[in-house]
Amino acid sequence: MRPICLVGLPGAGKSVVGKALAKRVGGQFFDVDEEIEKLIPGTIKQFFESMGEDSFRALEKQVLKGLCCSVPSISVISTGGGAVLSEANRQMMRERSTVVYLCASTSELVRRLRYDTRRPLLQGGQLSEKLARLFEERDPLYREVAHFVIETGRPSVQTLVSMILMQLELAGCIESSRVPSVIDPPVGLDRL
Ligand code: S3P
Repeated sequence: MRPICLVGLPGAGKSVVGKALAKRVGGQFFDVDEEIEKLIPGTIKQFFESMGEDSFRALEKQVLKGLCCSVPSISVISTGGGAVLSEANRQMMRERSTVVYLCASTSELVRRLRYDTRRPLLQGGQLSEKLARLFEERDPLYREVAHFVIETGRPSVQTLVSMILMQLELAGCIESSRVPSVIDPPVGLDRL
């Protein structure tokens, strides 16, 4: 088995679903943004403001590569929404991991992110316009890098985990013994 990388727009549920997925298969969970925040003085938002997006992308590339090359094979890595912008990142994720695109409509993302203050690229202006622009730019890149695409819609986190595992199992990317039945109560993606 190879590590699983989750890609998708901010608010797609990469971290919440990633944690639940890792727990279900008895693996470890890693979050690229959390790893970046261990290396910088403040938050990602502050880093964007002081150092600019290019510096963030350079750090993101370094951290993503480090994780993809070193995590145990039974791991789930949640990537930042913009990680796919780099062709080198896409190639590396595709070669070293099983990539799952969590795809959500922009209206669903607006609903989930309407009170967000943490994501630098979504602050100020019309959230729906910003997300629509990101979707237009990135959806083709997520699809290009992904081995599997999961439409998130509004099912519970555990249902999404089951949907992912079913696809991975059918494609032979995960052993059946790693796919236990659901034990946790259903939780929605409303609070990201
Ligand atoms: C970004 C998404 C964020 C974070 C940074 C940049 C993006 O991660 O990496 O703010 O470019 O879309 P999430 O996708 O987890 O919000």
